[in-house]
Amino acid sequence: MSEAPGMKTHDVRLVGRRISRVDGKSKSSGYTRFVNDIGFPGMVHAAMVKAGHPHASIVDIDISRVSTVSGVVGVVTARDVPGENRVGLVKDDQPLFASDRVRYEADCIALVVAETPYLARRAAELVKVTFENLPHISSLDDAKAPNAVMVHDDGNLAVERRIVKGAIEIGESQSDHVVEAEFHTPVQEHAYLETVGAIAVPFGRKMEIWVAAQCPFYVRDAVARCLGARLADVRVIQLPIGGGFGGKEDVPSEICARLAVLARQIGRPVKMVLTREEDILYTSKRHPMKLTYRMGCKVSGELQFADILIEADVGAYATLSPIVLFRSTIHAAGPYEIPNVRILTRGYYTNTVPKGAMRGFGTPQVVFACESVIDELALKAAIDPLEFRAINALKKGSRTATDQVLKDSVGLPETIRRAKKHFAGPWSRRSKGKVTGRGVASMFYGVSLGAAGRHLDRGAARVEILKDGSINVWVGCTDMGQGARTVLAQIVAEDLGVSVEQVQVNHVDTDIIADSGPTVASRTTVVSGNAILDACSKLKRILFSIAGEMSGSKITGISKGAFVAESGKALDFKKVVAECYLKRIDLSALGWYVVPDCRLDDSGLGDAYYVYSYATDVAEVEVDTETGEIQIKDFLAVHDSGRIINPMLAEGQVEGGIAQGIGFALHEMFSERDGHVASRDLSTYLIPTSLDVCDRMSVEFVERLSRDGPFGAKGLGEPAIIPVAAAIANAVSRALGRRVTCLPITREWVIEQSITS
Ligand code: MOS
Repeated sequence: MSEAPGMKTHDVRLVGRRISRVDGKSKSSGYTRFVNDIGFPGMVHAAMVKAGHPHASIVDIDISRVSTVSGVVGVVTARDVPGENRVGLVKDDQPLFASDRVRYEADCIALVVAETPYLARRAAELVKVTFENLPHISSLDDAKAPNAVMVHDDGNLAVERRIVKGAIEIGESQSDHVVEAEFHTPVQEHAYLETVGAIAVPFGRKMEIWVAAQCPFYVRDAVARCLGARLADVRVIQLPIGGGFGGKEDVPSEICARLAVLARQIGRPVKMVLTREEDILYTSKRHPMKLTYRMGCKVSGELQFADILIEADVGAYATLSPIVLFRSTIHAAGPYEIPNVRILTRGYYTNTVPKGAMRGFGTPQVVFACESVIDELALKAAIDPLEFRAINALKKGSRTATDQVLKDSVGLPETIRRAKKHFAGPWSRRSKGKVTGRGVASMFYGVSLGAAGRHLDRGAARVEILKDGSINVWVGCTDMGQGARTVLAQIVAEDLGVSVEQVQVNHVDTDIIADSGPTVASRTTVVSGNAILDACSKLKRILFSIAGEMSGSKITGISKGAFVAESGKALDFKKVVAECYLKRIDLSALGWYVVPDCRLDDSGLGDAYYVYSYATDVAEVEVDTETGEIQIKDFLAVHDSGRIINPMLAEGQVEGGIAQGIGFALHEMFSERDGHVASRDLSTYLIPTSLDVCDRMSVEFVERLSRDGPFGAKGLGEPAIIPVAAAIANAVSRALGRRVTCLPITREWVIEQSITS
């Protein structure tokens, strides 16, 4: 493993240490200023004019009454867009402002701007839009029906992906046990603490965007496109982000582009922060899916085939669905060796809020279905569920569903072994009115963008050592609350042999750092971390040479703030830096990292992602068959995400993922009726509180180092949530002796099972 970038021959000092978050104090003391806390002189406020209808033609937009509200500054519609009136990211199907047709109830038609947010909202209500209602599509089944109303002119099929490996017929003929089942998963809302918001500030030719966005470079692209401006005319400054979970991947681009159009027109800074209700109605969600699975195994438990159909509701616009459903397809057959695989994925348009990126990106749904089928097969074959997974688990040298050979860092078998240590059978138990069940789920997850995003899969860093020895760092990936700034500071400090306190990792500024792609796909530690190491290696070359001159002997290393010479002499880091400044040497360096290339052929075969993270979760639940209540007594998550740079932050990330996964499994009910969202706030859309989490929660790490990771790291942010709902569903199924096929698992469903059993 000595070839991993940043890997050292001596013991690491800071990597692997439980260092407190660099932004912890300012956040916990309320000092951090988010977009809602920030203003500019002369700033005005915008509000959206939303469709209110799930599907309609726009006959007329009358803005004449708006100016009757005092304090109104202006209105913009599609006609005012100086560049292209489009924001589609992958498929070009989405207008910035709807002008002839609306496709979901929160589709944006205009932006009204006034002196206060309140006045802007009031004035927005006075924009009179005349609609001609069209029949609408509110479900997957409606979208698929023959002669269905078309949400877009080219039909309702928005995305199609497939993998074909081997032959299903051969797999069937070799199977002793076959399980066939259909599963349904719900919409999930990100429910980040901070709703989406931004400020557009015109400065001469330059348009500055201050925004809490995961992907500042996407924002820059969208703003330039809609303004008809050069990319160099747009500067995006990232603000602290109060949670993203994928919800701030592409959505902020639309908001920022609209604000920029307004700001350009009126020449004043314009701010908009969505209310919680607007955020729920307007922003993207996790895809609801219908999953049809058929898998078979031998008496020995060895899997022979997987035949899978994934159908997803993508909502009114494709947004990130082509990429999300790519992930669903790649991960649908689970982290197992299966010789014959056929996976077909289809995404359909409906007249509902767009579905897009959410933590796990199309994977928690397929893992729920796949792990449920695996559990049924284990029951049929009478094999312990952990043992069944161990028999089939991907290991070094295995071939995945896309026929990719796994070359290194495959820790799945070890995660299963650790789970076995923690939980032995029995898998279900009955005692005084309550039943107890335990459930397992394993997963793998491709790190970074993979074959579907290969052209974007690179990242930059800029590291500058200042004359007092403090270090300024810029990267192209954002900290959305996951702790990236702390982890990256640890990487800088480790590699340059200084303390974390000396390092300042700044927020992204697109005028300072090169386009590093999106902050998604659990890629930040790897991409920004490696780019930082590239920059640091350039700085170390200079520092080592100057320190060598100063000591009169060769420098062998750097540790604890000092350069160590062959002669045994130690030279203080700050003294060497001061000497460089005296000699007028540039102590700033750019770093660049390109993720190893991945490609798939027409059958969907090849290298989907350069490396994978792995996990095995086990849940123990107690089910009250009279009240339907499900209590999670114990939860274990064992992750292989390569080197863990900061165990405390990593544990926190997994614990957060478990909580969000519990919400997906048991509580969160996004309710839509006839094209309208019914659960419009957090009092009707219920996310788990601390009382709804678990009695006991344990997190363990198996560190199978990746040769391409900084110090051997892989990704963890999304794996944290992926197996959670599947493990809980398997536990409830074992407890009740009835298979859960639909999430969330409601009390009503539990009671029904007990009555009918
Ligand atoms: Mo993420 S769900 O890849 O922003």
